[in-house]
Amino acid sequence: MCGIVGYVGENKARPILINGIRRLEYRGYDSAGLSIIKDNEIICAKSVGYIDELEKKIDSKFNEGTIGIVHTRWATHGAPTVENAHPHCDCSGRISIVHNGIIENYKYLKAKLEKEGHIFKSETDSEVIAHLIESYFEGKIEDAVRRALKEVDGAYGLAIISLDDPGKLIAARRGSPLIVGIGKREHFVTSDVAAILEYTREVVYLDDNEIAVLTMDKMETTDINNVQISKSIDEIQWNLDKIEKGGYEHFMLKEIYEQPQTLRDAMLGRFEKDSNLVHLGGLKEKENILRDIRRIIIVACGTSWNAGLIGEYMIEEHLGIPVEVEYASEFRYRNPIIEEGTMVLVISQSGETADTLAAMHEAKKKGAAILSICNVVGSSIAREADCGIFLHAGPEIGVASTKAFTSQITVLFLLTLFLARVRGKKEVLSSDFANKLREIPGQVQQILDREDQIIKIAQLYSDSDNFLYLGRGYNYPVALEGALKLKEISYIHAEGYPAAEMKHGPIALIDKNMPVVIIATTDSVYAKILSNIEEVRTRGGKVIAIANEHNNEISEMVDHVLYIPETIDVLTPILSVIPLQLLAYHIAVMRGCDVDKPRNLAKSVTVE
Ligand code: AGP
Repeated sequence: MCGIVGYVGENKARPILINGIRRLEYRGYDSAGLSIIKDNEIICAKSVGYIDELEKKIDSKFNEGTIGIVHTRWATHGAPTVENAHPHCDCSGRISIVHNGIIENYKYLKAKLEKEGHIFKSETDSEVIAHLIESYFEGKIEDAVRRALKEVDGAYGLAIISLDDPGKLIAARRGSPLIVGIGKREHFVTSDVAAILEYTREVVYLDDNEIAVLTMDKMETTDINNVQISKSIDEIQWNLDKIEKGGYEHFMLKEIYEQPQTLRDAMLGRFEKDSNLVHLGGLKEKENILRDIRRIIIVACGTSWNAGLIGEYMIEEHLGIPVEVEYASEFRYRNPIIEEGTMVLVISQSGETADTLAAMHEAKKKGAAILSICNVVGSSIAREADCGIFLHAGPEIGVASTKAFTSQITVLFLLTLFLARVRGKKEVLSSDFANKLREIPGQVQQILDREDQIIKIAQLYSDSDNFLYLGRGYNYPVALEGALKLKEISYIHAEGYPAAEMKHGPIALIDKNMPVVIIATTDSVYAKILSNIEEVRTRGGKVIAIANEHNNEISEMVDHVLYIPETIDVLTPILSVIPLQLLAYHIAVMRGCDVDKPRNLAKSVTVE
């Protein structure tokens, strides 16, 4: 989820580009760069880190130009380095582009272009676009762009400038938001209106496969086949704060609602077309080691630990490899046993959690192969692991992890399918798993569409002092995660427990003041969970059940039911956690808590 701003007009481009991109730093900030056309030359500066670092590299020669593009990066392909920072240019340096999205077929295109003699400077997928445009350029930049984009598979939001058409700023969109701002004798392009709000509130939202050709005085919009399209002009009503949150009250709610898209992004380009076969670029060189591993230890903290527990269940059930999940803070100090053939799987959204990083060092010291699952490209854990898989979830700003959790489960499932392919597990490969996974983003959206039912329940229980969350099997880690969400943002004491374990102690807590959330999806242990519901009800406890649609019996047995679509057991956690995320969010808001920055907590715990 990178930030893009482009400008063409009668004013100097530099201040507009820098002010604009600063508004987008929350979207990703591991590197940045800009290009400006001045005296028939494209001058370019790039840096690693925040925009402040980029400003240090921009000298007075950047002050004159009136057309330019700027980018702040959230790395997906290639570490955050100056070479990988955008803008990227073609061989001649006469075309400069900034890109937001993922080019799925970039490896194929890069190989083809290299064969044609193109020289690449970066490891990114984005650079391919600049060379592809160059290969088609015959005098009009927009014609070359249209022809190039027909060869691209994947998502893009693009802003392009060219020395051979120096008065034109080209914008193109497929799958990544891109907006054109309309001013007096000036036009803007941005991935997020926050960047241009101080200059104009008149915008045009590009749709997929559309291209805008912008000059100081003109805007032309066409489809990828150069068919003219008329676009309506919208007036932005929101204030800046609302825009950065995409119109949501908090980053946490925005990130909960991003999940249908982040789940699609987690799968993007990782399945062989229409099959169960999973390819994970980051593991390609390690397939031999992964084929022979005999034991997996998962180390993580917090929400990532909860995701790891789901990973344990899915890998043991479908691959028959013994897995254990360890709190990183415990693992690092207890002199763990690591024998030949052990792989340590390190899960961390931030990739900087001190305990998890230390646990990884301990495992490395003992000779384990290290595989990381991180969200932040270039983070310490991602860089130091032997191999890894990225979530592609974009920056997670809210301290309470939501979209990262569901993407972690998805990536763990992709890893399970990958290992099944590498280890020849035929029964897994012949299953319908891939199609079930592809249904999940739409099913998540169905649950989000029922948010008002969750708000009603939140209103009834926002004054509670305690909550108990119960689940069995794949839903036991979800019970832990639901309790963690509630306690960390609403400050209500909440415990997650294996449902059957309740009779070994927690049942003493049950009375009419104890709301109990029970995940009761119709899986292999459903009958058992019904008896747990009875145990709670006979002691006066209030039961909020998460159940599958078409389950008509359960509403008679509990106080409230939140329904979720049916899926296979192994994928149920991605669905059953959504109501729990929203329940925690709304209770916290009703209690007046600072949802995005809860007391005592940090987004990444980089200290012991
Ligand atoms: C989860 O909502 C919390 N913010 C916290 O438990 C978090 O999951 C934990 O600190 C681990 O963070 P990491 O995934 O970045 O390593």
